[in-house]
Amino acid sequence: MRRPYVFITRKLPDDIVAPLYDKYDVNMWPHEHLVVPRDVLLQEASRAEALITMLSDRIDEELLQQSVKLRVIANVAVGYDNIDIEAATKRGVIVCNTPDVLTETTADLTFALLLATARRLVEAAEFIKEGKWKSWSPLLLAGTDVHHKTIGIVGMGKIGQAVAHRAKGFHMRVLYYNRSRNIEAERALDATYCSFDELLEQADFVVCLAPLTNETYQLFNREAFMKMKRSAIFINAGRGAVVDEKALYDALIDQQIAAAGLDVFAEEPIREDHPLLQLPNVVALPHIGSATKETRYAMMQLCCRNVIAVLEGKEPYTPVKSQ
Ligand code: GLV
Ligand code: GLV
Repeated sequence: MRRPYVFITRKLPDDIVAPLYDKYDVNMWPHEHLVVPRDVLLQEASRAEALITMLSDRIDEELLQQSVKLRVIANVAVGYDNIDIEAATKRGVIVCNTPDVLTETTADLTFALLLATARRLVEAAEFIKEGKWKSWSPLLLAGTDVHHKTIGIVGMGKIGQAVAHRAKGFHMRVLYYNRSRNIEAERALDATYCSFDELLEQADFVVCLAPLTNETYQLFNREAFMKMKRSAIFINAGRGAVVDEKALYDALIDQQIAAAGLDVFAEEPIREDHPLLQLPNVVALPHIGSATKETRYAMMQLCCRNVIAVLEGKEPYTPVKSQ
């Protein structure tokens, strides 16, 4: 019998994909750091029963239309804004993501980015390596306190709640804004639900963890930054396009807000000469929220398990909920 064809859009570790090779005809794009070209992706998808995709792969109507054999797409990410869920659902293609396994790891990175931005860690690390350290000085690289401040979390999903949990350890007051209230989180984390505007007005740290949807596209625009405190620090570990980056740049230049820590960008990879990267009060990271070896392995493994489940006619472990 012909074995199902599985295409993996990036080189994944051999031990992770071994269970797939045992059962299926597998083809893997051989590069670890290069995005599969569109024409190769379309070609491969058109013969595949299953795809393992990265968040950098656009899975749209055009691709799905040509991929008549496709049964499952397993995206190595919790976010799935790169996939047209409606177009997939219409064709009975199951889409899976990787929730839960990355929650704590991504919350760690989000909090690390918050601390790094508040305490100017990147500037300080560059300062010492550039031989600029002449003496201990009262205000040398003085940042801003994190403990006992107010954090405003936009997007109170699992990662948002895990960030709130960390914030409690720093004796912070926790505000959140979400599509829907989460009474359980409010009780467990002593978090206060408020409107988007109230959060912007009150938070010392505005942390964006919202998924990218039609509703959240450029939610953080000029008006949003104008409402924040001048001392506010903006952290984004969700999706870049939730922010109008020109408005963010202007807010930083005009000292409308104090600093920003960004793990995600509207266009990734962001250009080296992008204006945001030229600012000393911007801490920028290359989308590494879930990037620990343990968690990335768990994410890749979960994708393989989802593919096997669907191809064996079983329920997938983590189908995208909105399907
Ligand atoms: C990363 O951004 C993810 O969605 O997992
Ligand atoms: C700082 O190191 C201090 O002793 O105040």
